[in-house]
Amino acid sequence: MSGKLVIFNHPLIHHKLALIRDENTGTKDFRQTVSEIGMLMAYEVTRDLPTKKVKVKTPVADAEAYVLEKSVVVVPILRAGLGMVDGITALIPTAKVGHIGVYRDEETLEPHEYYAKFPNIIKNAVVFVVDPMLATGGSVKHAIDVLKARGAKTISYMGLVGAPEGVKKIQEAHPDVDIYLAALDEKLNEKGYIVPGLGDCGDRLFGTK
Ligand code: PRP
Ligand code: URA
Repeated sequence: MSGKLVIFNHPLIHHKLALIRDENTGTKDFRQTVSEIGMLMAYEVTRDLPTKKVKVKTPVADAEAYVLEKSVVVVPILRAGLGMVDGITALIPTAKVGHIGVYRDEETLEPHEYYAKFPNIIKNAVVFVVDPMLATGGSVKHAIDVLKARGAKTISYMGLVGAPEGVKKIQEAHPDVDIYLAALDEKLNEKGYIVPGLGDCGDRLFGTK
């Protein structure tokens, strides 16, 4: 059985997605909007986080309250995943952040890792792998492989635009991982780009083209 596949259906997310899909949207608005979508998605993605009961003393009386039971670790896949981190950590300020650098070979579309550093709490934390684009799924699959090899047990993936090919790859390789996307698009083109997608997310975020 596969993990959950959630495609967000929220007017604000649709609206912001339209903005970043538009080829006329420049770096400033693109970057800001990717971060805003990250924040909106974080609210939903954290809905099922485990909580524990605590007692707090209000100015009036003792109260039962609930706090997060587990640490949260956000792991952006460099570069483009960085664009969603500020929005997510605005909502979960105590989250730790790990980084994994992966680029996709333009010819073979295979992922190549060039950096990895994670907080040592990943074994017992709830880990969110973050990358706006799920195309062939090679980069996200690689990041999850690495995190599992380092002992992470509770992993979800959140991204903006996915292709059916990428979803299938993650569901087959990591059926325990829930997938959260703002949109599921039609297909990949011959260069491995998502159609209609939004183009090269890293280049649009950082203005490198
Ligand atoms: C892009 C994107 C994903 C990956 C998706 O990164 O940000 O990480 O491609 O493709 P896949 O699902 O086929 O692996 P890219 O390799 O362009 O690197 P960048 O983020 O540094 O621009
Ligand atoms: N990476 C991107 O940034 N965009 C795509 O459409 C596919 C991979």
